[in-house]
Parts: sequence; C-alpha cells; structure tokens
Amino acid sequence: SETKKLLILPGDGIGPEIMREVARIMAWMSRARGINFDITEDLVGGASLAVHGVPIRQEVIDEARAADAVLFGSVGDPKWASAGFDRRPEIAILKLRQELGLFANLRPAKVFDALADASTLKPEVVRGLDIMIVRETVGGIYFGEPRGIETLPDGSRRGINTEVYTTPEIERVARVAFDLARKRDNRVCSVEKCNVMESGLLWKEVVTDLHAREYADVELTHMLADNCAMQLVRNPRQFDVIVTGNLFGDLLSDLASMLTGSLGMLPSATLGAVDANGRRPALYEPIHGSAPDIAGKGQANPLAQILSFAMLLRYSFNMLEDAAMIETAVANVLANGLRTPDIMSPGMAVVGTEVMGEAVVRELDKLQQG
Ligand code: NAD
Ligand code: IPM
Ligand code: MN
Repeated sequence: SETKKLLILPGDGIGPEIMREVARIMAWMSRARGINFDITEDLVGGASLAVHGVPIRQEVIDEARAADAVLFGSVGDPKWASAGFDRRPEIAILKLRQELGLFANLRPAKVFDALADASTLKPEVVRGLDIMIVRETVGGIYFGEPRGIETLPDGSRRGINTEVYTTPEIERVARVAFDLARKRDNRVCSVEKCNVMESGLLWKEVVTDLHAREYADVELTHMLADNCAMQLVRNPRQFDVIVTGNLFGDLLSDLASMLTGSLGMLPSATLGAVDANGRRPALYEPIHGSAPDIAGKGQANPLAQILSFAMLLRYSFNMLEDAAMIETAVANVLANGLRTPDIMSPGMAVVGTEVMGEAVVRELDKLQQG
C-alpha cells in the first residue's frame, strides 16, 4: 500500500513539546517495525501569526485536505490577546474543523488502572471508567449567525452569539454516537437543554426519531446538560456514550478529563463525512490547550498527544495492532509509577515530558520483543 500522508501541526505553547514525543514514537515505529509515513509539518496559531501574519494559511488547509490524517497539537498564546478577534491563534483549529467538515469530535475519557487514585474524585468512583463523549464541532453557538458586537443607540454595546442546529447536523453526529455505542456498551445519553432552548428541543426530537427509525437496538436516554455535569461527578460510570452539541461537549469533556486524572490524559479524534472516494477527513488532537502556564518548562504531560496518535492509527489507518501497542505501552509506563506533575501522587516518580516519552518507547521495545 502507498505511504500514508500525515500533516503535523504542533502549534503553540506545549504543543511542540508534546509533539516531539510523538516524533520519538514515529522514529521507533520506523526503526523497529519498518513503518514510515510521508510527513509534512507546518505552522498554525500564534506560531503562524508570528511568521505569516495569519493564524492559518490557505496552503495549510489545502495540505490538511490532501493528507490522509492531521495530527494537531494546540493553539493559543496570551501574546496575541490584544491582536484583535480575527487574529486569534484559536482560529486555526476552528477553521480546520469548518473547512474539512470535521463534525464529530470523539473524546474518550478512560481511566487507566494505575491512575485511579490520580483523580480528585475517590478512586472507587472512577476506577474502570470508560466514557466516549461525542461532541458536535462545526455547528451550534460557535458558528451560528447572527454574531458580533454591536453598539446600541444609547452607546451601550451588546455581544451576540446564536445557537443553531439543523436536523441534518443533529442526525449525522447522532449517527456517529449510535454506531460507536454498538461497538461498546450499546448505550447513548443525548445531552441538551430542551427545557430552555429551541435548538435543544429540536436536538432531542431528532435524536429520538433517528433512534426509533434505525437504532432501536441501542439504549437511548436524554439528560439536561446541567444535570449531566453533576452526574459526571456523582456517578460517572453510569455513562457509555454521551452525544451533545459544541459548547456543552467542550465543557463536559474538560470536566470528564479530570475523572481520568488530568486534562493532559485525554486524546480526541475529529471526523468528517466519508467522501465519494471512501476517504474520511480526520484530525487528531489532545482536548487540552497550549497550557501557557507550563509551556517551555519541559513538564507537560505528553500522553494525551501520544494517545491521539494512537487514535489516528486506529481510526484513519486501521493499524489496530500498532494503536493497541502504544496504548499498552502507556498503561505499562503508568503502572511502573512514572508520573508527570499533573498526575502526580505520593510515592510515584515525577518526570518531565521527555522522560515520559522515552519511557513509552522503552515499553514499546519490550512489547515488540515479546
Ligand atoms: P489549557 O488546556 O491550555 O490548560 C488548562 C490547565 O491544564 C493549565 O493549568 C495547564 O497547565 C493544564 N494542562 C493542560 N494540558 C496539560 C498537559 N498536557 N500536561 C499538564 N498540564 C496540562 O486551557 P487554558 O489555559 O484555558 O487555555 C490556554 C490556551 O489554549 C488558550 O489560548 C485557549 O484558547 C487554548 N486552547 C486551545 C485548544 C486547542 O488547540 N484545541 C484547546 C483548549 C484551549
Ligand atoms: C477545544 C478548544 C477549542 C474549542 C478552542 C481553542 C477553539 O477549547 O478544542 O476544546 O473551544 O473547541
Ligand atoms: Mn476545550
């Protein structure tokens, strides 16, 4: 088969630091398993603003379209806080999702056994947790019109954003959730605020109808978003797949990450629609941001980025064995007691980004040697 084309976009802050640890794993794959990718790397976010004056160039979007998969780090840098709303580093990821039609963001919150005591919640509440949050990513209040800031006749101003969801937008993301559920515990919880918002009411209706028509074998429940936030802390293991809109999904997945020990543990895959040639655009990134507070200190947890690469191998390249090896290597490193500061607990060895990455490669070596 042809060499797979991979576009790598490290971005800002800790992005490049944790992406280096993925590069270490790719070098190992080449060395130990003879697996090579056709890799292009480019600038996005503040890094692109600094060199090109824009958060993302059209060229990069074209590269992303041409690639078999995109591996993204994170964007955002306080340096650009006063550069203007249309020169935010964050535009890079929003535009990539929009331009590639990446509508379904899969955010698995899985607790590694060794990390059951790393969460701020009691270990018995989170042990064994395995949730998949499916977050819609190209619609909702992030993109709805009208939007903007207006000055009113009395001189006061108002900021406007609009939550909009159409039936096809709701259906396609719900389909992803139901299909995933069938391969898991076969349960979907659909989350909105139908008690307040018409977009939520439509969301609930569309999911209910689709379920009755095509997915009656899957267990479907509905939950209001505020209650869902509470339930995720009270008894997170009640959930299997959660499907929700853009903003609620953003909030609930950061919350869910802390059940696994740290925001630095959660990978994600953002998938588009399968095209006429059977290709599916896909971007993989940790759910966390550029972490300016720890950037440059060599202490960021690289595991969310590494696990995002494992998801890429699984979902885009169907390299199931390689994906599983990486996930097992991560589990083993954690079982051996290695911890970056964010997942630290007493009696464990605190290490930095690079030592964590090297340890994953060492475990890969052991797995390879059987
Ligand atoms: P953040 O996710 O960057 O960080 C929140 C907290 O978690 C910080 O204390 C940080 O140190 C910690 N953290 C995050 N990732 C970590 C890791 N891998 N290892 C250890 N600790 C980690 O969120 P924020 O501080 O609100 O935002 C910072 C910037 O990142 C903003 O500009 C924001 O817009 C951007 N952002 C980008 C993305 C993305 O690129 N997809 C996602 C979220 C936030
Ligand atoms: C995420 C981030 C982004 C979002 C920002 C950086 C635009 O928080 O990927 O979770 O809100 O979608
Ligand atoms: Mn977020």
